[in-house]
Amino acid sequence: MRPAEELETVIISRRVFLAGATASGMLLAAGTMAGSTRAVAAGGAGTVTRYPLYFPPTVDLASPYVLTAKPGTVDLGGGKLSTAWVYNGLMPGPSLRASNGGSAQITLVNQLSQETITHWHGMVVDHPNDGHPVYAIPPGGRYSYSFPIRQRAAMNWYHPHPHMMTGQQVAMGLAGAFIVNDAEESALGLPGGAYEVPLVIRDASLDSTGNLQYKPRSGGFLGDILLVNGTRDPYLNVDTALYRLRVLGGANARIFGLTLTNGAAFTLIGNDGGLLRSAVQVSRVDLAPGERLDLLVDFRGLPVGTRVVLRDARAGWDLLEFRVARQVSVSATVPTALSTITTLSNPVLTRTFSFDGMSKINGHEYDVNRVDFQVPFGQVERWRFSTSGNAPHPVHVHGASFQVVSRTGGRGQLYPWEAGWKDTVLLEDRETVDVLIRFDSYRGEYLLHCHKLEHEDMGMMSNFVVV
Ligand code: C2O
Ligand code: CU
Ligand code: CU
Repeated sequence: MRPAEELETVIISRRVFLAGATASGMLLAAGTMAGSTRAVAAGGAGTVTRYPLYFPPTVDLASPYVLTAKPGTVDLGGGKLSTAWVYNGLMPGPSLRASNGGSAQITLVNQLSQETITHWHGMVVDHPNDGHPVYAIPPGGRYSYSFPIRQRAAMNWYHPHPHMMTGQQVAMGLAGAFIVNDAEESALGLPGGAYEVPLVIRDASLDSTGNLQYKPRSGGFLGDILLVNGTRDPYLNVDTALYRLRVLGGANARIFGLTLTNGAAFTLIGNDGGLLRSAVQVSRVDLAPGERLDLLVDFRGLPVGTRVVLRDARAGWDLLEFRVARQVSVSATVPTALSTITTLSNPVLTRTFSFDGMSKINGHEYDVNRVDFQVPFGQVERWRFSTSGNAPHPVHVHGASFQVVSRTGGRGQLYPWEAGWKDTVLLEDRETVDVLIRFDSYRGEYLLHCHKLEHEDMGMMSNFVVV
C-alpha cells in the first residue's frame, strides 16, 4: 500500500462513521424539478440548464445576532432540494456586514450531531473569539462571541474549525461571507448595491439522491459539481455597468484559475486583507481555498443579449454566466490609487515552516494542547514556508495579515493578487514562499495551518502564542 492510501484509510475511518450517523438522522428531501429549463450554450460545450444565482441575505452586525448550525435543505437550482448542513437555514450562510470601529455580538448555536466552533477567517480578534478548536461546543451547546471590529475593509468569511471535522462541515455547506467596510473604501465610490456581487465559489459532491455528501480524500476533497453561492450552473442578469465581484475561494481543496470568456481583463482591486495600493489589469487570477479577490468587471458598451462566462481555466468549468440584460448609463470610474499600505521591513528573525507529507508541519502533527512556538508582540518576522511535496498547500495564519515578499522554486514568481495584505498564500510543490508578518493587535494563542481542509484535519496545523 502506498503511503497516500494508508493515510486515506485513516482519514476515512476517523470520520465517516460520524458522517454516516448524522446523515441517517437527516430528512431526505423530495426532489422536484421546477424553474428554468431554458437551455443555453455554455462555453461552446453542449447545452446546460442554468439557474438564477442565489444571494444570501445581508445581516448588519450592529445588533446581536444568533447563528445556528444545523442540518437543513437547500435549493441548488430549479427548486430541487438537497440536504446539507447550514447556518441559519442558508447556504452560503447570511452575509455578515460590519464597519471598522463597530463591534460584533454573535451567539453560535450547535444543532448538529457533532461538535463545532465557528472561526471568522480574516477577522483580527482575540483568542477566545477566534474559533480555536479548543472551544468546540458539543451538540446542543452555545458559544458567545463578542469582539470589536478593528481592521481595514475586506471580505472575510466564517466557517467551522473543530479539529478533524472542519473538512466535513465545510463540504456539507457551513460557510458564509463576513464583510468589513471602512471610510477609506467608502470614499472611493466603488460599485455598490446590486453592482457589488459576493461570489462564494466551491465544488461539491452529491449522492445518488442529490444530497450533499462528503467523500474525504487525503490529497484533498474534490467535488464533481461546482456551486457559486450554493447555485449549480448559475447565471446572473447584469446591466451595462461596472460590477464589483467579491470572490471567496470556499472549496475544501480545489484551486480555481478565473478567466472571462470574452477575453476581457479583470481589474484587480483587492484580496484577502482588503484593497491593494492601486488597481491592476489581469486576464487570469488563481484562487486557492481561503483566498479572496476583489475584482471589477466592466459590462459597459456590451450589447444587450451578450453572454460572458466566468470560467475556471484549471478544470475547464463554466462557473457563472453573466447575461447582459439591461441598458443603463451609470457613471463609474475605476480609481487608480486605492489604498495606503505600509510596507513591513527589517524582520528581526526568520522562522521556517516545512509542510511535510499531508499531515505535518516541521515534522509534527497537530496537538490541540501543544504550543509550538512563541512570537513577541509587535515584532516584524520573516516566515518561510516550504514543502517537499503533496502540494498545493494554501498556508493560512490566524491573528494577523502578512505581506508576501518572495517565491523561489516552483512557479518562481509572485502574482499581482499576492500584493497588499494576505492571510492565505498558495504553496505549490518545490516552492519556498517568504512572508513578513507582525502581530500587533492581540496577545494570545493562534493557528498556522494548511487550508486544504483534509490536510488541516489530518494535523497540518500548529498552535503558537503571541506574547
Ligand atoms: Cu479559514 Cu483556520 O481557517
Ligand atoms: Cu483563519
Ligand atoms: Cu496541505
